[in-house]
Amino acid sequence: MRSRKWLGFLDLAPAALVVAGLGWVILSCADFHRGPAPIDGGGGQDAASTVVKDLMFEAQVYPVLLMRCADCHAVGGDAKTSRLVLTGNGRVDRAMVVALVTPGDPAGSELLIRAGGGDAHPGDIRLPPDSPEYATVSDWIAMLPTAP
Ligand code: HEC
Repeated sequence: MRSRKWLGFLDLAPAALVVAGLGWVILSCADFHRGPAPIDGGGGQDAASTVVKDLMFEAQVYPVLLMRCADCHAVGGDAKTSRLVLTGNGRVDRAMVVALVTPGDPAGSELLIRAGGGDAHPGDIRLPPDSPEYATVSDWIAMLPTAP
């Protein structure tokens, strides 16, 4: 009895293998599509360079803004209703600052135009274009990735 059952199973085995094989192929295709996406789409390099630029912003650019702009550009300051209201936390404020610059074009960035006294800035000249502080902010803008 037992041996017959085993033989019966063996008769069905090839069909089972075909089904299993098809299933494996389908799963493999699914894995093929699913696999690479997070690795490439996640942008390992982009993420890394963003971290570097964040560090540059937090360590070098943000302190300049706090020193030269926060008198007015902070809660309760003359520019409290402008788009530049510094909180004291560079990581939090970075997006707000990025929104005021044109990546790759420092001289065409509103942040630096205003900081240089342009566009009738009420704060007048806070970062003279020949100052090292202007250069720090300018270098940072120049290194920002141009695509969002
Ligand atoms: C003495 C006060 C004062 C200082 C200091 C000052 N600003 Fe301003 N700034 C203002 C005021 C008031 C406004 C809002 C009125 C306007 O947009 O013309 C303004 C507007 C701006 C704007 C336009 C924001 C918007 O909403 O469109 C930018 C950009 C800017 N300032 C950048 C800077 C930078 C960068 C610094 C520091 C390097 C700085 N400001 C320092 C007073 C100041």
